Amino acid sequence: MNYEQAEKLLKKCGQEHVLAYWKKLGKKEREELLAQIATLEPKSIAQCQGALKTGADVPDSSKGKAPKVAVLKGKKLAEAVAAGEKELKAGRVAALLVAGGQGSRLGYDGPKGCYQIGPVTDAPLFYFHARKILARTIRYGKPIPFYVMTSEANNEATVKCFEENDYFGLNPDDVFFFTQGMWPGMTKDGKIILDKPGHIFMSPDGHGGLLAALKRSGALADMKKRGIKSVFFFQVDNPLVEIADPAFVGYHVLNKSEYSLKLCAKRDPKEKVGMPMQFGKTFRMVEYTEMTDEQCTRLGKDGKLYFLYGSPAIHVFDRAFLDREASKAMPLHLAFKKIPFVDAKGAVVKPSEPNGYKFEKFIFDILPNAKTAAFLAFDQKDEFSPVKNAEGSDSPATCRADMQAKWRRWMAECGIQCSDKVPVEIDPVYAVDAAELAKIGICLGAE
Ligand code: UD1
Repeated sequence: MNYEQAEKLLKKCGQEHVLAYWKKLGKKEREELLAQIATLEPKSIAQCQGALKTGADVPDSSKGKAPKVAVLKGKKLAEAVAAGEKELKAGRVAALLVAGGQGSRLGYDGPKGCYQIGPVTDAPLFYFHARKILARTIRYGKPIPFYVMTSEANNEATVKCFEENDYFGLNPDDVFFFTQGMWPGMTKDGKIILDKPGHIFMSPDGHGGLLAALKRSGALADMKKRGIKSVFFFQVDNPLVEIADPAFVGYHVLNKSEYSLKLCAKRDPKEKVGMPMQFGKTFRMVEYTEMTDEQCTRLGKDGKLYFLYGSPAIHVFDRAFLDREASKAMPLHLAFKKIPFVDAKGAVVKPSEPNGYKFEKFIFDILPNAKTAAFLAFDQKDEFSPVKNAEGSDSPATCRADMQAKWRRWMAECGIQCSDKVPVEIDPVYAVDAAELAKIGICLGAE
């Protein structure tokens, strides 16, 4: 993009002030600013300005009802597992990881996936995700292509982490990195904020940026070419997640669902998790911040919490559904933040109060568009223990304890008692579940 093209684009969006300091910029700064301007889309700018006028599209959760959530046992569970295994053996399942977040609450300066969580080996979060995918690839004999969304800030370090670890054993041809988009910050009047005379303040467009990024990067086309039907979605912070779990994939397929969600009973009524709710015939996710205290603590006829099940952000999407949604605009969520800006004299000011808006999209906002949705309950202690905070709940310490407790339960099922004092770690490729560990255990015992 050259200066004239940039000027034309900015004029179209009413953002000519972005070039106000052009004459004072050096060659490199000019190039960088033009590159940033080239990423601006008039449609998106207009959407941000519209969101500033109307506010975020927050659902009126008072009308929401608890959805019907399945608990699979016995024959139903066996049927779901068989259906999921059929998909895995046919190579119709992909894994999709959102890892573009900044990990600021954890206070970790790097891609969160590189955070060392292994209780014995100090292996990074990425190791556990990748090795689980490899384990199922080996078990079912077909690759599970792994799509990893990064952000501009962490893409290079993420790819380096995979390269330095030989892709944790995965075939690099089956790992696809793609980068999410960035949105400019704006004042409440809809003007783009410059945080330096030659630089637009930009922030990642949220995990909902996934859809546009999947399309832009060619990842969606790649999935289609590979014959993928079901896409298993998960977040980087949860090493307990059972990636491409056959029961969940099978339940999704048997229900001809476009968007399936795994849910778990909240650990306490005010746990900070999203809550899927039913509004007439559609479903949508209501964030914990949008629920009233009464809703968080309301009891059902059975004496349990009425809104019992929260979302750990473990989903299966129908690939064609993602394809359909990728061309649509998603709702925007606004965050009012302190954003550095350039004053009239060209000096950079760090505000002490919030002065501008960041815009984010959330992937679960496509839930109301799904023609069919399915909800499946699971036991939190087996599959959800995220690393979010440096200390306290959802921290590395609680996560390591939960990982080890799970492996100890597997060992106990195999008749091996292990003291809480002995650190435990099982490579997912060695055993991806208790049944596999039992087989190996018997084998070792026979030797
Ligand atoms: C999220 C969910 C919440 C859910 C909880 C479960 C939202 C708004 N809320 O909360 O409903 O119950 O997880 O743990 O998502 N990410 C990107 N790009 C971004 C922002 C985030 O890839 O621009 C990724 C992160 O790397 C992470 C995931 O999205 O893997 C979740 O982000 P995070 O900000 O940690 O979500 P929470 O607020 O914890």
